[in-house]
Amino acid sequence: MAENQSPAIETHGLRKVFGDKVAVEDLSLKVERGEVFGFIGPNGAGKTTSVKMLLGLIAPTAGTGFLFGEPLRNFHVRSRVGFLPEHFRFHDWLSAGEFLSLHADLYGIDEKTKKQRIPELLELVGLAEFSNRKLREFSKGMLQRVGLAQALLNQPDLVILDEPTSGLDPVGRLHVRDIIRGLRDRGAAVFLNSHLLSEVEITCDRVAFVKHGVVVQTSPLHTLMEEEILVEIRLRPVLPEVVSGLSQWSQKVEADGEVVSLSLTSEEDIPAINRYLLDHGVNVYALQPKRISLEDQFIRIIGMDGGL
Ligand SMILES: Nc1ncnc2c1ncn2[C@@H]1O[C@H](COP(=O)(O)OP(=O)(O)OP(=O)(O)O)[C@@H](O)[C@H]1O
Ligand SMILES: [Mg+2]
Repeated sequence: MAENQSPAIETHGLRKVFGDKVAVEDLSLKVERGEVFGFIGPNGAGKTTSVKMLLGLIAPTAGTGFLFGEPLRNFHVRSRVGFLPEHFRFHDWLSAGEFLSLHADLYGIDEKTKKQRIPELLELVGLAEFSNRKLREFSKGMLQRVGLAQALLNQPDLVILDEPTSGLDPVGRLHVRDIIRGLRDRGAAVFLNSHLLSEVEITCDRVAFVKHGVVVQTSPLHTLMEEEILVEIRLRPVLPEVVSGLSQWSQKVEADGEVVSLSLTSEEDIPAINRYLLDHGVNVYALQPKRISLEDQFIRIIGMDGGL
């Protein structure tokens, strides 16, 4: 595979079994450079296990994978990857600056670059004035920020973030969102595991839904959000036979007082429904299309029983 064309991540049938527990059944996916890819699924779906295989931290039971065209076991390619683990074990006796310096040394970054990059990264994650503070005195969100700075030390071409914003306040999340956009703008790929679906909705180009170790659907975010249109109609009088006649446009018609909700697959149905109601003696007071959230889609695709 030619290095300059190969995707950031490509996997074929990756599988991981712990004893008799299948953590990841069959992971086949491709993440392009310059793409922000959301990997979402319920607790225990196999997201962290998948990430660990991508990073070569655990060996797959079966299947193959490549980062930038190099096999996962290739040690060399890992220098191009940044990683924020789900459970970061910090050296809490170090200050933030010392901690980043240690990790920069592990990457083999030279002193001059280090002196410039560490303050830049602390600034980027909003910790500029805490460089000399010991990590043991950091709050959860501050630790997550310094963990993110660590993941960016080597100016990675692929950044893998496992729940990067779970401990962050709204301003911290905004910071992370900007950082992710900045990474995409410079052509890096971002692989994001997150339960915060509103975050994923704002930042990701594509999402994969994973359930019981299988990717059940992968979609560009915009098509996912346009797939279904929820419409709320406030009408009077509520004539039951007219309301039930709405089922010709939608399988899901729910009435709650004077408000009828239904889901449509085409925007063109909206004027037709409006005409139908007027023709049948029902006045329309409001007709409001609502956007489907990623959370709605998650429940629809994964279901309520997706976890553990
Ligand atoms: N080292 C291990 N030994 C045995 N079972 C494991 C191990 N690591 C993970 N598992 C199991 O594999 C499954 C997937 O775990 P994983 O941590 O990948 O889920 P996840 O999708 O990241 O969940 P969460 O959203 O809670 O972080 C779970 O059932 C878990 O108990
Ligand atoms: Mg996890």
